[in-house]
Amino acid sequence: MLSVEFDRFGPPEVLEVRERPEPLPAEDRVRVQVRARTANVSDVELRRGDTPQRLKELGLAFPAVLGWDFVGILLDPTPTLPAGSAVAGFVPWLGSEVGRGTYAEVISIKPQWVAALPPDLDPARAAVFAMNALTGAQATDRMGPLEGANILIVGAGGPVGMSAATAAAAAGAHVYVTGSMADDALATHGYAGVISRGTPEEMAVAAREAVPGGMDAVFNAAVAGPGLIRAVKDGGTFVSIHVADKNEPERGIAVEKVVVQADPSRLTSLLTTALLDRIRIETLPLDQAREAHERLERGDLAGRKIVLVS
Ligand SMILES: NC(=O)c1ccc[n+]([C@@H]2O[C@H](COP(=O)([O-])OP(=O)(O)OC[C@H]3O[C@@H](n4cnc5c(N)ncnc54)[C@H](OP(=O)(O)O)[C@@H]3O)[C@@H](O)[C@H]2O)c1
Repeated sequence: MLSVEFDRFGPPEVLEVRERPEPLPAEDRVRVQVRARTANVSDVELRRGDTPQRLKELGLAFPAVLGWDFVGILLDPTPTLPAGSAVAGFVPWLGSEVGRGTYAEVISIKPQWVAALPPDLDPARAAVFAMNALTGAQATDRMGPLEGANILIVGAGGPVGMSAATAAAAAGAHVYVTGSMADDALATHGYAGVISRGTPEEMAVAAREAVPGGMDAVFNAAVAGPGLIRAVKDGGTFVSIHVADKNEPERGIAVEKVVVQADPSRLTSLLTTALLDRIRIETLPLDQAREAHERLERGDLAGRKIVLVS
């Protein structure tokens, strides 16, 4: 099988396409023939070695394989799904699976990370949400009561923010969004308003013009910098998603950090055509992962996500 590996941190050129034996059946693991996985920005950060100490502490060993999410076909049965089932999910790359990701044609993973893929969904589009939909939904769990609440989601053009906005609106929140797809989202999804993208301070000012007392909760799905927290009302909630988020608690505001957790049945229910149809993607064969990373670093994707297919 093909596997995309790297032997040291560095530029996209460190990614090597190699032929490896497929993983063998193993106790407490199931194998998945992977059809699609996303080239995420976090893969770029991990390949570059932005946080080497953290990866060392997790026990990263080279050669390492990137990749969080997967959509594919089960090669072994799980307690709830037969072999041959279409599945989706993600592996805890910054946890037990450090260095053993999904940039390979066949992976061996724990059955509790596997969700049934609803029928008729495009595998490449589903891959973009296999981790990100749960992340967004679990972010809304941290926002406090949603019914009637004013919520700002910064970065609702990306799959994490988009999923959070969808979940919060479904729970009865008045959802304000930023993001390049926000105008379209407002027209078609009934959000309360669009905040123009700007500096964190500018977005906070605009949010307070929309809701003078401040938002009940703000979700920083874009890793916008310090100052964004000023959009939150006194005693409200600020939800962050990345170690690089430097917004600090103030005025009694709770700062919650989201680390996505596997939840197969919730993931299956989140993966709907309505959500998948809203993302723009581009596919590349898995063996062109290096090109995908070059393009992610150049930032010339204009809101599209790159999915590596095999
Ligand atoms: N903690 C976890 O467990 C976990 C899990 C999954 C992902 N993540 C993280 O979640 C974040 C979002 O992922 P994603 O795939 O949805 O990202 P994405 O596709 O890159 O989308 C990011 C969104 O943020 C917007 N944006 C970027 N910089 C901005 C800025 N300075 N101010 C305002 N908006 C800005 C973009 O706006 P435009 O639409 O205008 O371009 C886009 O809407 C990433 O940092 C990822 O690493 C964390």
